[in-house]
Amino acid sequence: RRLPELLRAMPKAELHIHIEGSLEPELIFALAQRNGVALPYASVEALRSAYAFTNLQSFLDIYYAGASVLLHEQDFYDMAWAYLQRAAADQVVRAEIFFDPQTHTSRGVSMQTVLQGLHRACEDARAQLGVSAVLILCFLRHLSEEDAFATLEQALPYRDRIVGVGLDSSELGHPPEKFARVFARCRELGLRLVAHAGEEGPPAYIWSALDVLKVERIDHGVQAVHDAALMQRLAHDRIPLTVCPLSNQKLCVFPDLRQHNLGTLLDAGLAATVNSDDPAYFGGYINDNFTQVFAATGLTAKHAYQLAFNSFEASFASDAEKRDWE
Ligand code: HPA
Ligand code: ZN
Repeated sequence: RRLPELLRAMPKAELHIHIEGSLEPELIFALAQRNGVALPYASVEALRSAYAFTNLQSFLDIYYAGASVLLHEQDFYDMAWAYLQRAAADQVVRAEIFFDPQTHTSRGVSMQTVLQGLHRACEDARAQLGVSAVLILCFLRHLSEEDAFATLEQALPYRDRIVGVGLDSSELGHPPEKFARVFARCRELGLRLVAHAGEEGPPAYIWSALDVLKVERIDHGVQAVHDAALMQRLAHDRIPLTVCPLSNQKLCVFPDLRQHNLGTLLDAGLAATVNSDDPAYFGGYINDNFTQVFAATGLTAKHAYQLAFNSFEASFASDAEKRDWE
């Protein structure tokens, strides 16, 4: 069978998707109109043409602006439902979805509004699409740890609606250590822990995400190749890396996809996975990430099976669910 066909047809888990990054320009405009929110772009085309990024921050500025159209529970539902339908079409059977509550609560949208809408879409996905979908609350690392604690407090009434917590937004200058206390508290609460580290930041941030925050997975982590001891640690402990090839290309981490190190990570025995990060902004959903990185770097069917296996192994699903997929 042709490799692209295998990549598209194989069941897989998506473990690194920011739901606000799945908001397509068309839906941004539709929600802006529905909610009477003014946008600084004249058209869908004008907005899309602003998607020319040079680094992580240049993307984040426009990503937070796009999220400003989300006001009501139904808006969050519509966004998540659109993503889940798209994911099901890519043979995603498990999705662990990041959301950024502080982007919304800072605009006066309540945690309840955000979580009700997202949770209802996850329930409908299980019933209508056969997709097992769960939510991971991400703290914005450019804000204070105090702000993260307040956000955790707001989420606790809905504790059963989130499987874990993560850490995202501007990486450089905001090392994992800044969130040591809030992650320790989340750990006591039985929440699963992940963090973005080593996207633009140094290997030291991956070490501290593991040893200070005690995370179970590293989001991105591609800078690990610059530290041989870290590579050994990640391989030995089978710490999953949720790699996002098109994101890395669009944010100029690897300006040319042919330079991407996914193959190096896999061949070193790391539990790397392929994910879409912010598909509406980076030019493709999970299967586009698979087909494009395979075409650019010459990965094989063996790598494809390994990546699908890794995605289930790395997921926070129950052992019973994992047995079904693996
Ligand atoms: N990195 C950090 N923060 C983010 C990202 C990312 O790739 N996408 C959405 N928020
Ligand atoms: Zn991300």
